[in-house]
Amino acid sequence: MTVLRTVNLVKIYQNKHVPVPAVRGVDLLVDEGEFVAVMGPSGSGKSTLLHMLGGLDIRTSGEIWLDGQRADTLSESAWALLRRKKIGFVFQFFNLVASMTVADNVELPALLAGVSSKEARARREYLLDALSLTERADAAPAQLSGGEQQRVALARALANKPALLLADEPTGNLDSRNTRDVLRLLSEVHRDGQTIVLVTHDARVASLADRVVSLLDGQIVDDGRIARRRPGRGGAGEVIDLR
Ligand SMILES: Nc1ncnc2c1ncn2[C@@H]1O[C@H](COP(=O)(O)OP(=O)(O)O)[C@@H](O)[C@H]1O
Ligand SMILES: [Mg+2]
Repeated sequence: MTVLRTVNLVKIYQNKHVPVPAVRGVDLLVDEGEFVAVMGPSGSGKSTLLHMLGGLDIRTSGEIWLDGQRADTLSESAWALLRRKKIGFVFQFFNLVASMTVADNVELPALLAGVSSKEARARREYLLDALSLTERADAAPAQLSGGEQQRVALARALANKPALLLADEPTGNLDSRNTRDVLRLLSEVHRDGQTIVLVTHDARVASLADRVVSLLDGQIVDDGRIARRRPGRGGAGEVIDLR
């Protein structure tokens, strides 16, 4: 079952009438339950690609299919509805609702999707606990550090058990302990079947993925499945090969 498919996806920004090609013909297939890491140098089009996949930026040409549904031709309001039902998004700049507590920020997507308040609360408690944020539940976003806001954004994105988690450098502002919490949670939800497309510069994050897609100048230049061999007895740890 394919959760995400793009066909020759292109984004050209106009910068004072000068065309800036940011994404130049991306064909990407992501199966249900797959964890895909997107890597590439700064300016290679990673955020632009992710924003288009989440309907936050309009494609110039090409197709986007989400869960079997053509998405790139949707109106803005139809996209908003689709996003609410199917997508969890961790932005580079978090986008938390400033007037709501951490707990309410995390519960909101589940409540909007029609989950019972009891279920939404249970999911929120699980996520905040996994990210060492339980004590910050009643705080306002402005009272949090950048790293805390980033983790709240991840909790919010997962609140809904979305068909697709899109995350733009979700460990970009974190110290090593908090990175570890995030990695553990991503592994856990991935093991439970969560489909993930995640932009990262961090090799530790990428090493959790099933596949690493490398972007350069808006094009996929490498798409490598990571083969994992279980370590034998006395083995030094997990061996990761790029095929
Ligand atoms: N809103 C925008 N207007 C004009 N150019 C943009 C805009 N957003 C991104 N770009 C350009 O598109 C290219 C890809 O940017 P981006 O997707 O942010 O790359 P990455 O996330 O890989 O660093 C860059 O050349 C960037 O300057
Ligand atoms: Mg970026």
